[in-house]
Amino acid sequence: MKPYQSIFIIILCNWMAGAGTPVAASVPPYLNDSLPMEERIDDALARMTLEEKIALIHAHSKFSSPGVPRLGIPEIWAADGPQGVREELMWDSWDTAGHTNDSCTAYPALMSLAATWNRDLAYRYGRSIGEEFRYRGKDIALTPGINIYRHPMCGRNFEYMGEDPLLAGILASEAVKGIQSNGVAACVKHFALNNQETDRHQVNVIVSDRALHEIYLPAFKKAVIEGGAWAVMGAYNRYKGQFACHNEYLNKILKEDWQFDGVFISDWGGTEDTEQAVRNGLDMEFGTYTDGLSSGEANAYDHYYLARPYLQAIKEGRFTTRELDDKARRVLRLCFRTNMNRQRPFGSLNSPQHAADAQAIQEEGIVLLKNEGALLPLEPAQYGKILVVGENADFMLTKWGGSSNVKARYEMMPIDAIRNRVGSRATVEYRKGYTSDWPPQPAVQDSLREEALAAARQADLIIFIGGHNKYPNHDTESYDRTGSGAPFRQDEVLEELVRLRRPIVLVTMGANQFDMPWSDRIPAMLHAWYGGSEGGTALADVLFGRVNPSGKLPVTFYRQLTDCGAIAEGEYPGDGQNVRYNEDIFVGYRYVEKEHIAPAFPFGHGLSYTTFAYGRPQLSQTVMEHTDTLLVTVPVSNTGKKAGKEIVQLYLSDVQSTLPRPMKELKGFVKLSLEPGETQEATFSITAEELSFYDERTGCWTAEPGKFVIHIGASSADIRHTASFRLKE
Ligand code: GLC
Repeated sequence: MKPYQSIFIIILCNWMAGAGTPVAASVPPYLNDSLPMEERIDDALARMTLEEKIALIHAHSKFSSPGVPRLGIPEIWAADGPQGVREELMWDSWDTAGHTNDSCTAYPALMSLAATWNRDLAYRYGRSIGEEFRYRGKDIALTPGINIYRHPMCGRNFEYMGEDPLLAGILASEAVKGIQSNGVAACVKHFALNNQETDRHQVNVIVSDRALHEIYLPAFKKAVIEGGAWAVMGAYNRYKGQFACHNEYLNKILKEDWQFDGVFISDWGGTEDTEQAVRNGLDMEFGTYTDGLSSGEANAYDHYYLARPYLQAIKEGRFTTRELDDKARRVLRLCFRTNMNRQRPFGSLNSPQHAADAQAIQEEGIVLLKNEGALLPLEPAQYGKILVVGENADFMLTKWGGSSNVKARYEMMPIDAIRNRVGSRATVEYRKGYTSDWPPQPAVQDSLREEALAAARQADLIIFIGGHNKYPNHDTESYDRTGSGAPFRQDEVLEELVRLRRPIVLVTMGANQFDMPWSDRIPAMLHAWYGGSEGGTALADVLFGRVNPSGKLPVTFYRQLTDCGAIAEGEYPGDGQNVRYNEDIFVGYRYVEKEHIAPAFPFGHGLSYTTFAYGRPQLSQTVMEHTDTLLVTVPVSNTGKKAGKEIVQLYLSDVQSTLPRPMKELKGFVKLSLEPGETQEATFSITAEELSFYDERTGCWTAEPGKFVIHIGASSADIRHTASFRLKE
């Protein structure tokens, strides 16, 4: 056989093995998985008409944009939200579509995830919730929310990840990676400065460049650069007078400074102007209410700012297609990362694994605030009659709250989980004690309180489960809190119960606690945020010791509202047009330490059923060059009788700085899991980046030479050891 004959036979066999279709030659590049993504994008873009590019960049339903039907590029579907994949809504309205196959696993609120300080759990949250979005056919998951917790009044604090940009940024980055491992885009929100709900659609935030870069942007920067987020959602509010959904300053930071290559999408209804949307980087427009036509009109979508008005402007020569091609390219990149990626997994929904994921997060998110006399964990057999009081012991907290509302397949109530755990070892009674029913009826509230007190007089132990819920002016979108007092008059019940001098445990839900000047008379307190489908199970496991709590506060619990920098020095909520962040970089613990204020419970605080001892930190060097990485190792031992987890925190102080800096700032954390008697080392690395502040005089991050102090702590206020080093010229 001649060589050319054998080659021919090889080709013929390959061709026949390819089930008769010739190889790649007939598949257009954009459909050829074996080609680099950017080549596929170029090819798809070159095939698209002007009208198809315009259609691609704005919604054609409440939560979808059309893709490119002629080229077989699928619709792009987005869905909320941080606590689970939202139920299907109507095509053109916020009404539920009434499906029966779209209930989901409800995950703990992101404040609870933040309270775990656990990178692995943050990834696990992302991977798990991402599987549910994927299974439901969603390409963009509108989570995580990472706006900084500037003050306790913001109605959406529960959806975010606390007051410290490093903690929020590191955990958000892990969550983003987890979500995107499913071929679903994470969409971090709301970029930027959306720190209140009052006047959220128009308030103009006035903040220094330094506070913007040191406090309000770092979590987004980490989520984009380290997390690799494929989508970012703009905020409703304005900054420097421009709406954040198309803001030249924020757009430059996101797309030039950070080199973000994903899609910048509007919040729903956050687009206000065609010219600004074109020039300032808005890539996809969702949820706009068109002028003239009310929302939901069949052709409303064509009236979107980036729809006909934009097409018309291009045809009239007011714009080239330069911006449009960049927007379309980014949306195509999103498609090739998600619904055009044939290798992506298929997801799953409501699996036992997801329930276990949600439970594991909540078990580590619950914070043990107080435990005088080691009242906890409870041994039921010690108590003949246990009385549970409080509406939140038997109240669905996965519902409402605004766009993060989910239709949970189930939600384990605390009272049911407590009864399951106690079994026949004691009797468990329940009294509601107070109600959030609206409008409030004093006679009803009085009788609920009296019933609870009557039962409490016969009880050996009281477990009060209260706090906030997802109703307006508590923890919900579009509304802020109206004050820091106890919700629904539950303090009246609590104060009476405390007077009975029986053992009492207080469990609070919500984004933060309410004022309780008498809390020193309560020996044991837990804060449980919002726990999701297995919130009741996790709480019962902590109460009765199956789980040793390890959560720590991602936020400062103030004794009084005026101890908060934003309230004491800043403006809140502003005058309806502007709000000035006069407290500047002194947010949360950074403020209370500057003012030497003792909070009710400090940032980073959380107790355990065991104890931990911290050895002295060892430094790799005591003099550091700008290019060095200084290593800090801290031996931590479990000196108690129970296995437990400890979050070791490293804070840094800049002793000699030309600008005022916080007393100290969180620059690292390590969560160790230790058996009784076990010692492990927490290791931290410090580079010039951790030493730097943002110098608005130069627009650069600057690490000034001189002395720095390392604080190793179990909380921001419980510093176990310090060590110093010097940064050389
Ligand atoms: C809402 C929220 C945003 C949500 C979006 C879609 O107004 O601000 O977080 O993802 O609209 O529901």
